[in-house]
Amino acid sequence: MTASTDLRPRHLLDFHGWSRDRLTAILDNADTMLAVLDRPVRKVPALQGLTVCTVFFENSTRTRISFELAARRMSADVVSFAASSSSLSKGESLRDTIETLSAYKVDAFIVRHEASGAAHRVAQFSGKPTINAGDGRRAHPTQALLDAYTVRQEFGTLEGKRVAIIGDVRHSRVARSNAELLPRLGAEVVLCGPATLLPRELAGMPGVTLTTNAREAVKGADAVMALRLQTERMDAGYLGSLPEYIAGYQVNEALMERANEGAIVLHPGPMLRDLEISADAADGPQSRVLKQVENGQAIRMSVLYHLLVGRQ
Ligand code: CP
Repeated sequence: MTASTDLRPRHLLDFHGWSRDRLTAILDNADTMLAVLDRPVRKVPALQGLTVCTVFFENSTRTRISFELAARRMSADVVSFAASSSSLSKGESLRDTIETLSAYKVDAFIVRHEASGAAHRVAQFSGKPTINAGDGRRAHPTQALLDAYTVRQEFGTLEGKRVAIIGDVRHSRVARSNAELLPRLGAEVVLCGPATLLPRELAGMPGVTLTTNAREAVKGADAVMALRLQTERMDAGYLGSLPEYIAGYQVNEALMERANEGAIVLHPGPMLRDLEISADAADGPQSRVLKQVENGQAIRMSVLYHLLVGRQ
């Protein structure tokens, strides 16, 4: 396949330009990647000879580690740029940083940045396949893919499933990416939080409804996702008192009793236990939080394979 006839998107920055078929192929291929991860030798040669660069300007545990493992499981070389120990502290710009890394013949970039749109700029500056590992409050596409995969793994389909996403929607790139992805794959999304943390403009998205009532949100839900309260991105005034927030929006066993029988609990992590999610919900039989983590590695293998194999 040559680049000129290849209609696949070159980057995964958000889901713009990604067809339902392509998105489904990513989920389907993750099944194969999970099988690889179950083998005694968890390695395949798919990305041999390629170098993947992770560029994280914000902290991460799950996304960075799982991307690095995903690339290594497929035999790529991995180089990790750590903003805190880089020449950024001497005033180097994002553009010069990315152009410098590109000059080392890196084949793909995986980028996390606090600014919305930063991943697009990395794609422009590098000219290399770029994966958005979270930019500001805008998008976190691989998180949404692993969330969709976890729901599909549980129920066999996303068609007709209702996913309630509860908490700090305003600051959540995870909520936005899920609201973009899940309805395209046939699911219904309900976004829920206090009015100050629930941007009204999201109501215009197809397949997405908004409510400030968590009990309403979980009624008929097959999956309930708690969102972290992102106080580091919050100005004063968004939140009343924490006890009020917990009483209204914490995902806990009492709230889950109002969801469908067999409903699952999700959280993208990191979790603030006993704030947006109770310990019993985080650790109970309905929790699929660690399943999300496990699936994240397979999804990221699938995304890397999709973007990099066949493009040389
Ligand atoms: N869900 C998520 O993005 O977690 P990290 O910040 O640990 O990568």
